[in-house]
Amino acid sequence: MASGRLAVVATAVLIGTIGATGCSASRGDSGATTAVADGSAPGDEVAVEQHQGRAGAAGIGDPDFPNDGNGGYDVGHYRLKIEYDPERKHLSGVTTVEAKATQNLSRFDLDLSGFTVGKVTVNGAAARFSRSGDELVVTPSRTIPDRSAFTVEVTYAGQPKPVRNSPNLGTYGFIPTSDGAFVTSEPNGARTWFPGNDHPADKARYDFEITVPEGVTALANGEQVGSPVTQGGKTTYTWRESHPMASYLATVTMGRFELREGKTASGIKNFAAVDPRYSGSLNELYNQSGRITEYWSKVFGPYPFSSTGGVIDDFPAGYALENQTKPMYGGFNPGDDVIAHELAHQWFGDSLSIRRWKDLWLNEGFATYAEWLWSEHKGNASAERIFRNRYAVDSGAAIWKYAPGRAKPDDLFNDSVYTRGAMTLHALRQRIGDPAFFKLLKTWNAEHRYGYVTTPEFVALAERISGKQLDGLFDAWLFTAKKPTTW
Ligand code: TRP
Ligand code: ZN
Repeated sequence: MASGRLAVVATAVLIGTIGATGCSASRGDSGATTAVADGSAPGDEVAVEQHQGRAGAAGIGDPDFPNDGNGGYDVGHYRLKIEYDPERKHLSGVTTVEAKATQNLSRFDLDLSGFTVGKVTVNGAAARFSRSGDELVVTPSRTIPDRSAFTVEVTYAGQPKPVRNSPNLGTYGFIPTSDGAFVTSEPNGARTWFPGNDHPADKARYDFEITVPEGVTALANGEQVGSPVTQGGKTTYTWRESHPMASYLATVTMGRFELREGKTASGIKNFAAVDPRYSGSLNELYNQSGRITEYWSKVFGPYPFSSTGGVIDDFPAGYALENQTKPMYGGFNPGDDVIAHELAHQWFGDSLSIRRWKDLWLNEGFATYAEWLWSEHKGNASAERIFRNRYAVDSGAAIWKYAPGRAKPDDLFNDSVYTRGAMTLHALRQRIGDPAFFKLLKTWNAEHRYGYVTTPEFVALAERISGKQLDGLFDAWLFTAKKPTTW
């Protein structure tokens, strides 16, 4: 799904490298052809491009994550057929990507980490492919014309290898567990289980067909389609997420689960699942998730998806992830503050997605502020009181040295992005007053539902709604590496 601005950036980058060594040489990729031969005169490029197209960029255009996502196309839909055997830790998959070209495309990449790729077809015809790092480079038998729809099918298999020991995230991606897998992929772990455009700037709809040994339950985003089908000792679960979703929010978590399904007070579907080790937490997870979804629907606007709920698995991640429709809690019974955080992400992060990772405070600052709002709503500490507490920590504290609006790629989930991000919102609320602040939260959601957002767009909307000039406030709170003194 389109991320107009980034597509333009990616195109500009490519034009700059045409005829030079470009992406293909730096990949060390021998199998693929370059769009324009070295040494061609600049004037030839347009004519050559019309004949041959040019290669899609290896990244979608996020300067902090240059190889994440890809250029040259826009995905509308993924069909993920996945068979997983927990005993052998073996995954075999067929991914069908429906996309639209955003340039004449001689070649393009998908992000995929590990696995052996058996076969790639484009529009049904065998395509050449090669591997280079996390890029699967696909050369279709003929150039795909700009703006045309095309279908890619990738057959792959192997032992999934999650991303391990990442600085502030530990292990993420497809994580094998004793009874299945715990699948939480933020920021770029979707590539550890399917080939795709692994960046939130290209959201798509998803169909899942997951086959596991009989007795294992497979959970994915959205809703189950039909009943699971068991044959020859294997069960296939079919799920569909019919709203646009970022790749990092997709999940195919598998294992033994106890389930509770029903509806929230206003009739939103509610689905909770817990590993048997957390049997005693199922009802509380279900009830709190329902109650909190109801409250956020009043504060932020209508719930954006087809169901709410949550999953507690026994993998001791110690963290939670806001997987679309199914937040996942890794090895702990979440308190209502954590549930409030993950469900707030359904609005901030899931329905409204960031186009580039440096805007992560738009997810984490908002979800953290939601915890403060939940505390205030329950009659516990007010947001003001929590803000004062956080503000009181001395000016040498780490969060004052880290400007949360400039999130760093190697320290993306720094505490400042969460805490100082939330403080930014509280400073804003104090400055513009409750009526404008809460109107802003609702309008922000309504205007960008299922879409993409950036920090400058938020600042502009805050100014429009409040009628105040706010660049000083945002500069001090988001972009300056020292403790703000006014707001
Ligand atoms: N977004 C998560 C949260 O704050 C944190 C997180 C980042 C995460 N990357 C992750 C959790 C990977 C699980 C896996 O709620
Ligand atoms: Zn979060």
